[in-house]
Amino acid sequence: MLTGHKLKALQELIAASSKEEIAWINGYLTGLVSNGHSNGNGNGHAAATAVGNGQSIATTVKKVTLAFGTETGNAKKLTTNLAAVAKKKGINAKLIGLDQYKITDPPKEDYFFVIISTQGEGEPPLPAKKFYDYIHENQLSLPDLKYSVLALGDTSYPLYCKTGEDVDARFDGFGAKRVVDLQKCDVDYEADAQQWFEKVLQYLETTTTSTPVVVPTAAPNEKKASGKKYYNGLVNTNINLNDRGSNKQTFHIEISCDEKVEYEPGDALAIIPENKKWVVEKILQLTGIDRGLEIQTAKKTATVEQLLTKHLNICYLLSSAVKKYATITQQEIPDTRMDLVDLLRIYPVKNTEQFAEVLKILPSIAPRLYSISSSPNAHDGEIHLTVGKHSFQAKNEERFGLCSEFLGELPVGTAITFYIHKNRAFKLPAADKDIIMIGPGTGVAPFRSFLAERDSTGASGKNWFFFGEQHFTTDFLYQTELQNFVSTGVLTYIDLAFSRDQADKIYVQHRMLQKAKELFAWIDNGAYIYISGTKDPMSKDVENALLKIIEEQGNKSKEDAVKYLEKMKDENRYEKDVY
Ligand SMILES: Cc1cc2nc3c(=O)[nH]c(=O)nc-3n(C[C@H](O)[C@H](O)[C@H](O)COP(=O)(O)OP(=O)(O)OC[C@H]3O[C@@H](n4cnc5c(N)ncnc54)[C@H](O)[C@@H]3O)c2cc1C
Ligand SMILES: Cc1cc2nc3c(=O)[nH]c(=O)nc-3n(C[C@H](O)[C@H](O)[C@H](O)COP(=O)(O)O)c2cc1C
Repeated sequence: MLTGHKLKALQELIAASSKEEIAWINGYLTGLVSNGHSNGNGNGHAAATAVGNGQSIATTVKKVTLAFGTETGNAKKLTTNLAAVAKKKGINAKLIGLDQYKITDPPKEDYFFVIISTQGEGEPPLPAKKFYDYIHENQLSLPDLKYSVLALGDTSYPLYCKTGEDVDARFDGFGAKRVVDLQKCDVDYEADAQQWFEKVLQYLETTTTSTPVVVPTAAPNEKKASGKKYYNGLVNTNINLNDRGSNKQTFHIEISCDEKVEYEPGDALAIIPENKKWVVEKILQLTGIDRGLEIQTAKKTATVEQLLTKHLNICYLLSSAVKKYATITQQEIPDTRMDLVDLLRIYPVKNTEQFAEVLKILPSIAPRLYSISSSPNAHDGEIHLTVGKHSFQAKNEERFGLCSEFLGELPVGTAITFYIHKNRAFKLPAADKDIIMIGPGTGVAPFRSFLAERDSTGASGKNWFFFGEQHFTTDFLYQTELQNFVSTGVLTYIDLAFSRDQADKIYVQHRMLQKAKELFAWIDNGAYIYISGTKDPMSKDVENALLKIIEEQGNKSKEDAVKYLEKMKDENRYEKDVY
């Protein structure tokens, strides 16, 4: 206990100090104690260094890890910003992607903050899958860990922010202490993320003080209206770019909009398709329900016909929805995915009341994304899309994807609602930088936008495009435009791979290998590389070709080639828009 002149000195110091300074002193003293300082001559090294550096109390905070799980870069960008602000405040936080994170490390953490998005149908982003699986397959004990999760998502998806919710729930189950409530964010995530940042930083700044910290938390289930901006457009053009005889159908769709649509090259357009008319009719017929009956579901009140046509997902239901259907209809149904119409055929509902219950558990139709193929500067007032009619096999027959077929069949003059999905991880570099674009098939879409933008803004960087499809005569998408870009010098090079025009299949990665020397010279000279189109196998084959080129042309070991590409990624010089 302090007495006499020591107490007086302390009281004077406190009286002359601001609230923040008192908090600092408190943290400083706590730091001294926790570092073993007992009599003024002890080892208060950490805190003393902190004072010497003019840093704040937070240097006494133990290990702070800021981890991100991202697919398109939003979570990474946010976490990097958080780390930068934390650093400025003297909080020495470690920034790490969950793909790099050692999955067995959580028990070694003191403070663990995770920013993670949800992908697919409520799945973790690919780079975070190992971490996600590990924490779901193992029971950890983390009683000393303090944590919080910021979940990125999109309210238009049925499983909104599912991955963030899952991670939050697992850490809670491991006995870790949630120091800031889980924050879910829609596509306009900035304001919500900022609020979470402030709470986390406030927590970290005050965590070493002896006064209990009251961290403001959001009211449970607090609902915020989505700030997502929806646009109403009109289909002006819808043409098939493939010629007669092609195995493919690729639609060039132009949409006009009365108001200015805010987007940049590299962004995508998000659209919610309608269900097929004949399927809706079949469901109405199978259930006998009144099409005009108004029903209130979690997200929408509308007639049965409107719900089935525009709002509810009736295609290829997730097994969780099939399970709920089984409970409502009191039938044994195997763990499977199925179209609603098939469920109704095989496991009929008893009556219309039962079907009304089923309508209430169906998730909403998920939006589909399409890379925008127009440029804001070159195509004023219009948005262009390049949509491949998606086909797949089911029950031994060829089927077509819901949205791509819906879009391909939209007549000119149809009204269409959409929103913009920003892709911050797929952006043109400064005008004087060289770019290499690899985009077979519909992968051409963002590069048509890049080229039109660079053309109309007079960008001085060189542009090299690798395009591929099946046949030159039927499948050379945007042939005239691309050849014009070559004639006018906008495209420095174009390399084409038509896989089925000769006995051996030739793909874009083969063309890249043929041009290995010059390609590496561009890359080593600072060019930016972009890949767009199918994730599997195209983007993987292209990446392997790139690694081979870097290894052979750069005289590097395999490991060094991987590091080289990793470094390019970190510098935003290697970006993908793949699906
Ligand atoms: C960032 C991004 C950009 C994109 N850009 C483009 C672009 O520019 N151009 C483009 O064409 N596409 C693009 N896509 C892909 C596009 O978003 C859609 O994924 C694609 O059009 C397929 O959607 P769909 O609704 O037609 O197919 P869906 O109906 O969603 O079918 C998708 C898959 O679901 C399964 N499935 C569906 N129904 C059944 C069933 N009854 N039985 C069994 N399996 C079933 C099949 O495996 C099928 O392949 C992009 C995607 C992303 C993420
Ligand atoms: C193909 C695709 C599927 C998605 N699925 C979901 C989903 O099921 N639930 C959700 O809340 N958000 C979903 N999203 C939205 C993303 O989580 C959101 O765009 C997020 O900001 C992406 O962050 P990232 O760039 O860090 O990956 C999906 C996005 C894409 C492109």
